[in-house]
Amino acid sequence: MRAPLDSDTRLMANRPWITARDLHANPDLEIPADATLTPLARDLVRARGQEPRRADSAGARREALVVANWKSHKTRAEARAFAAGLAQAQATHGVQLVVCPPFTALDTLGAALAEEGLAVELGAQDVSPHGEGAHTGEVAARHLVEVGCRWVIVGHSERRYAGEDDALVARKLRVSLDAELQPILCVGETLEERKAGRAESVVSRQLEVALAGVSAGEVGRLALAYEPRWAIGTGLTPTGTEVTELLQHIRRRLVAQLGEGGAAPAVLYGGSVKPKNAAELMGLPGCGGALIGGAALDPVAFAAIAAAC
Ligand code: PGA
Repeated sequence: MRAPLDSDTRLMANRPWITARDLHANPDLEIPADATLTPLARDLVRARGQEPRRADSAGARREALVVANWKSHKTRAEARAFAAGLAQAQATHGVQLVVCPPFTALDTLGAALAEEGLAVELGAQDVSPHGEGAHTGEVAARHLVEVGCRWVIVGHSERRYAGEDDALVARKLRVSLDAELQPILCVGETLEERKAGRAESVVSRQLEVALAGVSAGEVGRLALAYEPRWAIGTGLTPTGTEVTELLQHIRRRLVAQLGEGGAAPAVLYGGSVKPKNAAELMGLPGCGGALIGGAALDPVAFAAIAAAC
């Protein structure tokens, strides 16, 4: 079992992960061009008036966010094996990796990633819209924070299929922000809606309701994922033009709704992202990273997609 590497060792090992702790310990720290910053470290860098790397079509600079959604897959033993595999696969610099396992594997995966010296962050796939209380079966935001989650997926299409409406998604976004989690808000249309020419209006409605209560100070903690519902788990992907149109539409809606701050959140693409199509999808203008289901169950494929970002 390997002990977590401290930041000096990480830098010496040519794996320049920069955490908020590194920046607090050394406020004058020179940030290497290929460094990966944790979200908190990115906030600190921005507060210094600098911007972390990666330019998108809007001219905003950010590092790619690459998120694994394991859905209802993997035991704790398999989560440990994934962390070991990812360490072997030498996941790339310059991207922020997040893994969202089932609730039952959060704790184990967090420990395994730390033991491997990987600055991969933990996310949950869902959150209760309530605080703690008499809500049988629900997992509250506070409990996610306690097991080390920084991120939480909100409004995934498989939750929407299970009956979540926009108002419920908005409540989940609110409790996540209140708990200082970073929500990844998923939006996207069904095939019928796309065929009816309603993709943009459906996404606009989803954004409008979910983001209604988000303040200017909270925008920087948000990420968005455009996931056409018909592309999830099907092997189908929209054309590059269709993805670009929707990514740009989402950015315009964010700015219209949230003002200047709407330029800040990363907008990811999700839906049948695989190593073979990742470079093309990730190279589209305005694409800030990927939300990956099936392909992210394999650490080698996950690392290959990250390398394409
Ligand atoms: P998929 O899933 O990559 O298996 O299509 C994407 C998702 O569920 O976010």
